[in-house]
Amino acid sequence: MKYRVTLLEGDGIGPEVTGATCRILEAAGAPVEWEKVPAGLKGIEEYGTPLPEVVLTSLRRNKIGLKGPLTTPKGGGYSSPNVGLRKGLDLFTGLRPVQSLPGIKSPYKGVDLVVLRENTQGLYSGIEHEVTPGTIVTMKVSSREAGERIARWGFEYARNHGRRKVTVCHKTSVLPLADGAFVDAFFEVAEDYPFIQAEARTLDSVSMDMAQDPSDFDVLLLQNLYGDIISDLAAGLVGGLGVVPGANVGRNIAVFEAVHGTAPDIAGKGIANPLAVLLSGVLMMRHMGEHKVADAINQAIHDVLSEGRHLTGDLGGSAGTEEFTSAIIDKL
Ligand code: NAI
Repeated sequence: MKYRVTLLEGDGIGPEVTGATCRILEAAGAPVEWEKVPAGLKGIEEYGTPLPEVVLTSLRRNKIGLKGPLTTPKGGGYSSPNVGLRKGLDLFTGLRPVQSLPGIKSPYKGVDLVVLRENTQGLYSGIEHEVTPGTIVTMKVSSREAGERIARWGFEYARNHGRRKVTVCHKTSVLPLADGAFVDAFFEVAEDYPFIQAEARTLDSVSMDMAQDPSDFDVLLLQNLYGDIISDLAAGLVGGLGVVPGANVGRNIAVFEAVHGTAPDIAGKGIANPLAVLLSGVLMMRHMGEHKVADAINQAIHDVLSEGRHLTGDLGGSAGTEEFTSAIIDKL
């Protein structure tokens, strides 16, 4: 039996890196059949919008998608298709597992943590106005319901992945209501998981402690803006955005994607690194319960990175997308 997966190839380097990922998944025997839909610039070309309804319909039907980066067109009045996708499908959890990989230059070894970001509220509400000329007010939205929902998702994730601790990050000293509601919801949900350690730490101390010793962290739970920043900080601990996978997950729909952008400066040159999208594909296999396929690809990635002979330019090598992809397939 094959699963139908919605494929958004993306803009810029998107088709190159998703194409490489699809080839590798196929070589590993992933039971997947792709349903390609036009988003981003292709969406504008075909339907006049970067996020046509066919994309949302396909994802609602298939429940699972693999996505390349999408351009947010400047001017022209389009809003970000990435934000539109999260809002349109209520993909309330931003999932970013951060793990050290062999052969990647990074400040630490043995990093293994997960950043969970609440995707729908916080300072990304988009509600802001100029109250008097030159004075802007922006709303930070924080509902107890959204806090509970992501906290439960986080503890369930911890339980299902053998994680021992969930840390909620906050600034209750300056935002006692907005952040207080998030932290209160967290501890209320934590009571249902007495076998997982629950702790609250301030965002500033988390930033410093993570830079000094990432081994103290397991699963981190953060509101939207805090999660956006800390997830990139965490990626920096293991070599940057090019080597970490990501996913946006809702109640029953999950979209897997790298966190880097369309890299217009190198698009079409055949030198883009497909690793982040590939790792997102591995995450997708695990989400589908295809652990054997995920393990095989992971092993192939580790082998190729350890040998260091077929690395792309951003990782210090001179291989192109094709050479790196073929090296992984050879290992498989
Ligand atoms: P970017 O991530 O596209 O590029 C930043 C730098 O990293 C560039 O030098 C680029 O060449 C390099 N880079 C990125 N991915 C790479 C890869 N796989 N292999 C090798 N090098 C890579 O960020 P930028 O320039 O800020 O954004 C470009 C476009 O991407 C914008 O239109 C932006 O809206 C969009 N974007 C989309 C995202 C998404 O769909 N999730 C996320 C971030 C940006």
